[in-house]
Amino acid sequence: MRHRRGLVRLWDYAKPSWRRLTLALLCMGVEAVCVPLMIWTAKELLPPILQSGQSQALRRLDLVALAVLALGLLKGLASYGHYYLGNYVGQRVIQGLRGDLFWHLLRLSPRFFEETRSGKLISHLTNDVAVLQQVLSENIAQVLVTPLMALGTVVLMFLLSWRLTLLVLLGAPLLAWVLQQMGRKMRRVTERMQQRLADLTSLFQEVVLGIRIVQCFNAEERERQRFGAENERTFAAIMKGHQLQALMTPTIEWIGLTGMLLLLWFGGREVILAQRMGAEDLIALLGSVQVLITQMRKFGRLHLILQQGRAAGQRILEVLDLPPEIPQKPNAIALPDIQGHIQFDHVSFQYSSGEMVLHDISFEVRPGEVVAIAGPSGAGKTTLANLIPRLYDVTSGSVRVEGYDVRDWDLASLRSHIGIVPQEVLLFTGTVRENIAYGQPEASDEEVEWAARMAYAHEFIVRLPQGYQTWVGERGAKLSRGQCQRIAIARALLRNPRILILDEATSALDSESETLVQKALERLMEGRTTLIIAHRLSSIRHAHRILILDQGRIVEEGSHEELLGRGGLYSKLYELQSLQARGEGLE
Ligand SMILES: Nc1ncnc2c1ncn2[C@@H]1O[C@H](COP(=O)(O)OP(=O)(O)O)[C@@H](O)[C@H]1O
Ligand SMILES: [Mg+2]
Repeated sequence: MRHRRGLVRLWDYAKPSWRRLTLALLCMGVEAVCVPLMIWTAKELLPPILQSGQSQALRRLDLVALAVLALGLLKGLASYGHYYLGNYVGQRVIQGLRGDLFWHLLRLSPRFFEETRSGKLISHLTNDVAVLQQVLSENIAQVLVTPLMALGTVVLMFLLSWRLTLLVLLGAPLLAWVLQQMGRKMRRVTERMQQRLADLTSLFQEVVLGIRIVQCFNAEERERQRFGAENERTFAAIMKGHQLQALMTPTIEWIGLTGMLLLLWFGGREVILAQRMGAEDLIALLGSVQVLITQMRKFGRLHLILQQGRAAGQRILEVLDLPPEIPQKPNAIALPDIQGHIQFDHVSFQYSSGEMVLHDISFEVRPGEVVAIAGPSGAGKTTLANLIPRLYDVTSGSVRVEGYDVRDWDLASLRSHIGIVPQEVLLFTGTVRENIAYGQPEASDEEVEWAARMAYAHEFIVRLPQGYQTWVGERGAKLSRGQCQRIAIARALLRNPRILILDEATSALDSESETLVQKALERLMEGRTTLIIAHRLSSIRHAHRILILDQGRIVEEGSHEELLGRGGLYSKLYELQSLQARGEGLE
């Protein structure tokens, strides 16, 4: 069975720490025995006190006091052991789970990330793991200690007076029922509370991410109202929880008090009238009931947390169970060197959302050839490019690299031959050097600098505060888009791939950086099979061949001159763009 039960799978993570776990369990046992023993011993204090004036009684007093002290110490040690060791095992489980979750996410296909809201993802990685962490730390140990201690206490009570104990046990189901009802209600309220808080958080997130849009559209007041309504609902949900909490404590205390009084009343009669037990036994019994109630309350709370943990665990396991969508064949092809031959053979593709994005695409890029793909935005250019490194699999037809269907390739080997400079460059948190060497971490400083020089990036990098060691990324130095692009080009150059894919690498640049990036790209393309995707036609004039993609179909194909001569979509677009460029020049 592939979907093994949650608990069994958690056990896999705990297994390496089984020695500590055993020791923790042992400590729990000791702790659970110590409490009733302490009550039993402490009750021996009473007779010597009552029989005051005898030296024998004084010795007994010393002895009993010492014994209780020793038991207390032992209980303390055991408690330390169970808490520390229990946490150790719990945290190991969490660590393993967190690591596996991260690793699994790294390998899921892009499809998964498109279909899952990133907020949901982050919540998996943080909240659910945190909830589970809480459960697995002290709570899992408590879940075992609590019933053990309750059991020990009940045994003690029977020894003290079986009649009174039966009386107590008759009342216990009632208390348990009340606790359970309240617990259930509390859970519903807590869930609603968390949902509200999550909604509030996502509103925050949305506004932070879209702050420029909010401000440009003067939507502050509208957002404030939207937030205000949500804020009020959250307040109401939280107050509901507090109300319940406020009710819960006195109710339970009142039930406990009534029970105690009943016990005292019946017990008093047993002592006074029937003389079946001593006063010290009655006091010990009362103490035991106190302990029992405390344990029951603890258990009720634990039960609640445990349920939350189970839900969180299930959500995590769901993500872990998602198959990495790009499957690899057992005898996949891995080639150290290739010429760089690409072939699309009647390729059609649709995203999981439904509509066909590419229709029956066939073309070939021979080794060393530069082929451009142009066309209006939304035509399917990026989609087409993503099929080559197998970020997605074709719906029908085949994409072949070096004559082999990409589905027969070893994924890592295939991707090692492909360099991509994407439309949106993402720099990771780290130094400039680390970013350039992202795909080639073992590259030497000389190689990194060479790549940067080739990408026309060296000049601006050495002017940064710490040169190649300057920190970039989310919290690092701010680089312009042109500079980011050139770092991305250096990154691709350093890998020295046979196949190069440039997805609108110059589209959002001003003309000065475009010239630089263009020059860098030309160097990058030398001797490589290149697929260059462009919206701006001026940048692809020199391609060997140009394919025009429109609504997922190749509608024209040829060199710049051929296409111009044909007077189709290309020549129309080209004319339009030259006019625009001239217009900009005149300004
Ligand atoms: N991840 C996706 N899921 C569903 N549809 C998508 C996805 N990415 C792009 N599309 C759709 O596919 C079509 C082609 O998109 P794309 O390949 O990005 O075009 P281009 O790069 O030519 O602008 C568009 O209609 C777009 O809405
Ligand atoms: Mg695109």
